[in-house]
Amino acid sequence: MTFLFNSDARRGTIFADAFAQALPEIPFSMDAASVDADAVRYLITWTAPADLARYRNLEILFSIGAGVDQLNLAAIPEHVKVVRMVEDGIVRMMQEYVLLATLALHRNLPAYLDRQRQGVWLSMPQMQAQDRRVGILGLGMLAQAVLDRLKPLGFPLSGWSRSPRELDGVTCHHGAAGLETMLAQTDILVCLLPLTEETRGFLNADLFAKLPQGAALIHTGRGPQLDQSALIEALDSDHLSAAMIDVTDPEPLPADHPLWRHPKIILTPHIASVTQPETAARAVIENIQLHLSGRDPIGLVDRVRGY
Ligand code: GLV
Repeated sequence: MTFLFNSDARRGTIFADAFAQALPEIPFSMDAASVDADAVRYLITWTAPADLARYRNLEILFSIGAGVDQLNLAAIPEHVKVVRMVEDGIVRMMQEYVLLATLALHRNLPAYLDRQRQGVWLSMPQMQAQDRRVGILGLGMLAQAVLDRLKPLGFPLSGWSRSPRELDGVTCHHGAAGLETMLAQTDILVCLLPLTEETRGFLNADLFAKLPQGAALIHTGRGPQLDQSALIEALDSDHLSAAMIDVTDPEPLPADHPLWRHPKIILTPHIASVTQPETAARAVIENIQLHLSGRDPIGLVDRVRGY
């Protein structure tokens, strides 16, 4: 019953130590070439290896990241459970990033950075937090954690999900009609949706048109959810005021891409939230313990939904 670790060695060493302590009965391998393929019950990886079929007794495939869009779920045998990374490190980093981005956009940082580059000392009227409505697309566990962190700042908070949710202190919307309602009342829109066929191209010209004039975008979902040209048009026409973008399509973004140097965009290279090996190892170990006791692991992917 082997656990096969297929990611970078630095993180692997931390996982190996945690496994040796907490699950010594499960052999840990970082070497796909020498492992006994039939013994592999658990695999952690980013993309599925081309020779996945050789792990005939695989029970769980763990994604090393929060997303599973990089995996071709259809190519993973039906009996294998696919599990997203749900761990405290990812949650904390996403809270920090969205907090940073919300405050940056709230306090007009992109405009002030542009003025700094031009040597222009000029202030602009400052809206107060209670008037700046923040709306989050997606109400999964990352979005909920982010909302908790935003609450003390006084922004009116809302969120949208496919199916109905109820969250304390957050106006929740769902479905197509709910989306329109939320967009019309959102000054800072945060995308924390998973990438699926339904969310590909979600942030497009139609959606931007439904936001009030002057609204801003924070994108920490996945690059292919955003129509990058539509964003640039919305910024250039002054319909949107600014954006903070952490994910692009493609990644890395080519050096001459217009997103890099747009004066209304702050761009970061997909660093909003990164799996932290210490906390991730603990989460994976707990999930294996759940699985061994006959329960579903946390972050189990619903193959029909795609996340
Ligand atoms: C990063 O984007 C992840 O999926 O963890």
